[in-house]
Amino acid sequence: MLGLPSLRRFIGEISSDLAAARDRDPAARGVGSVEILLAWPGVQAVLAHRLAHGMWQEGIPIAPRLLAYLSRATTGVEIHPAAVIGREFFIDHGAGVVIGETVEIGDRVTVYQGATLGGTGFARGKRHPTVGDDVTIGSGAKLLGPVEIGSFSKIGANAVVIEDVPARMTIVGNPGRLVEAGQPDDRSDDALIDPSDSVVDALREIADRVAALEFRVDRLANGLEQSATVTQLRPRRGSDSAEG
Ligand SMILES: CC(C)(COP(=O)(O)OP(=O)(O)OC[C@H]1O[C@@H](n2cnc3c(N)ncnc32)[C@H](O)[C@@H]1OP(=O)(O)O)[C@@H](O)C(=O)NCCC(=O)NCCS
Repeated sequence: MLGLPSLRRFIGEISSDLAAARDRDPAARGVGSVEILLAWPGVQAVLAHRLAHGMWQEGIPIAPRLLAYLSRATTGVEIHPAAVIGREFFIDHGAGVVIGETVEIGDRVTVYQGATLGGTGFARGKRHPTVGDDVTIGSGAKLLGPVEIGSFSKIGANAVVIEDVPARMTIVGNPGRLVEAGQPDDRSDDALIDPSDSVVDALREIADRVAALEFRVDRLANGLEQSATVTQLRPRRGSDSAEG
């Protein structure tokens, strides 16, 4: 049976998921928790998954799959009970999202409608994506196979990703191509020499940029990306285009 610690963890997870919905969905700002729970299918799907996953971990038979099935029928979101999902997870609009059995998702991840985190074939074992923290996955995006998506990356609407994506990348198209390696906090190149920056932050940023260059060089070497698509690293301006 689900014990008190599990219940406490479940309530904590649901509160953080509700906070995520309010934070990341402009339509949910100022809306009460009860109304969000009643009317946001993405939130309902995550709630059902938290329950199903708890039961799955306890080894309870049938009920986790049944709950996942009922959740799919009512929300249009299919999440395998075994999928591991971090805190503050938000599925905007719900419908058509598929999250496979061996998916692992970090904290503060946002997924839009129609996204698939699935396998590529009939392989067994770890066969689904691993997603880092603070990642945004656009509507209709397909992440296929045991790919790793680095933290703070954005996967564009309808992008198809079948290769690892390092941290802080923006990937669009099919096959997915890099359009920008940016910072989530809009910092420009000058930030690298800002004396207020700690050395650790600067080194981390350089490491991210080296990873971005390696990623691009690999893809150019494999003929997957045309040099014409290479864009300058630039500070981001304006509101976040990943908003729903
Ligand atoms: C990928 C995304 C995050 C990029 O946002 P951004 O960092 O602000 O990037 P920009 O808008 O400056 O676009 C950068 C380039 O990528 C292209 N691009 C952006 N999104 C794209 C997409 N989904 N597919 C193909 N190309 C795309 C732009 O045309 C631009 O190309 P260019 O450099 O050749 O001019 C955003 O466009 C996106 O797809 N977000 C998902 C949002 C979503 O699913 N919303 C659903 C709401 S219901």
